[in-house]
Amino acid sequence: MPPVRVGLLGLGTVGGGVVNVLSRNAEDLARRAGRRIEVIHASARNLSAPRICSLDGLLLTTNPMEVVENPDVDVVVELMGGMSPASQLIRRALELGKPVITANKALIAHEGNELFELAQSQGTVVAFEAAVAGGIPIIKAIREGLAGNRIEWLAGIINGTGNFILTAMRDEGRTFADVLSEAQILGYAESDPTFDVEGIDAAHKLTILASIAFGMPLKFDAVYTEGISQLQTEDVRYARELGYQIKHLGVARRHATGVELRVHPTLIPERRLLANVDGVKNAVLVWGDAVGPTLYYGAGAGAEPTASAVVADLVDVVRTLTADPNHRVPHLAVVPDQVTDLPILPMEAVETGYYLRLTVEDQPGVLANIARILANHGINIEAMIQKEVSAETAHLPIVLLTHPLREATMNAAIDALEVLESVRSPVVRLRVESLSG
Ligand code: NDP
Ligand code: HSE
Repeated sequence: MPPVRVGLLGLGTVGGGVVNVLSRNAEDLARRAGRRIEVIHASARNLSAPRICSLDGLLLTTNPMEVVENPDVDVVVELMGGMSPASQLIRRALELGKPVITANKALIAHEGNELFELAQSQGTVVAFEAAVAGGIPIIKAIREGLAGNRIEWLAGIINGTGNFILTAMRDEGRTFADVLSEAQILGYAESDPTFDVEGIDAAHKLTILASIAFGMPLKFDAVYTEGISQLQTEDVRYARELGYQIKHLGVARRHATGVELRVHPTLIPERRLLANVDGVKNAVLVWGDAVGPTLYYGAGAGAEPTASAVVADLVDVVRTLTADPNHRVPHLAVVPDQVTDLPILPMEAVETGYYLRLTVEDQPGVLANIARILANHGINIEAMIQKEVSAETAHLPIVLLTHPLREATMNAAIDALEVLESVRSPVVRLRVESLSG
């Protein structure tokens, strides 16, 4: 069989990693795919910039459309990122009937529904394993390995940069800005790093995971999203005193009335494996009705871990090039006419435990007032710590953990607490997940 000829859009962190992995593992890949896989044409903005890979033998251009439209290119790999021109390039490749492989979670989360429809109508595919959790083959695991299950919920640390920052701040006492700039140098961060720290990148990935887990259309706009940029080191410290780690978690859970989709800093009991996932590592916990909990762990970002997922997609695509398009693994795990719209629950309807930190004046009756307000809202306190009075402000922090309750009830209780003269606004609120069932 002649080699499969790849057109590569982007020669940055992931594109460079893909060239290196394809070249280093060429023999093994040919044995697995049944054909050699060769990059023949590639594009970047600046052709004289230094690269992490060799460009020997590659036809190069600054015009990515030339790569897509090159009749010798059989498969297009998009590793440029962003919405435009990536969207137009992928659409053109699909119109030409060429399979597309991408790591672009933003594009899949926003435009995946149309891209999959276009691919289906052209008898081709869009593969996107690298779009979620870097090198962890989580899409394949859910779509194929867990196909026997009804997935009830999943929860994951799905942004490597954010986890890298949280870990270094906790363990090394470094500043947010300092660790973020290291993550950028290491190639982990998005070109706009606010996507990482404000939870947008994790929301893109959660959108994709939920659609595959529940067989529903991609609904990025419905994800409740909070980032880590406002997280205070004292809350990380108090959480540890209470036996928890704070992680930036994405949660998708199915209920009779709809689906929860949320990304926010979350307290996780430190005995859970997820609480011990540190640095750039990601992990996704998936709960299936037959298998129970399963956990997938690995590097969430970086050149070769991400290339691992891109190249796996390439091998898959090569294996199925001659297969009947209607008998390939469906994009969203269920056959296209079975993708079912499900209502997304408003955040107010979500039920979790809560961590509250109140900064109060050191006066008699303050605790009693707080306890009364919580009791009036039917809120059950699970643990409480009162810290020493600050010498400068004469205020003292009170940290509470609650049993699970509805977000709407907690919102009302926080509003009432913030009205108290002895309580300084805002009350810090973080969510707690036991991840037990
Ligand atoms: P980089 O910024 O390192 O690389 C982007 C590449 O695309 C560069 O080679 C750049 O050219 C080229 N490029 C960008 N815009 C254009 C354009 N308009 N015309 C021509 N070429 C262009 O990004 P990454 O490799 O980090 O990320 C690529 C994709 O992979 C993104 O979608 C990202 O979200 C995703 N991803 C990244 C991971 C990571 O760990 N970095 C992990 C998982 C997914 P030039 O080099 O000349 O500037
Ligand atoms: N910026 C992303 C992260 C890259 O840090 O997780 C991997 O998707």
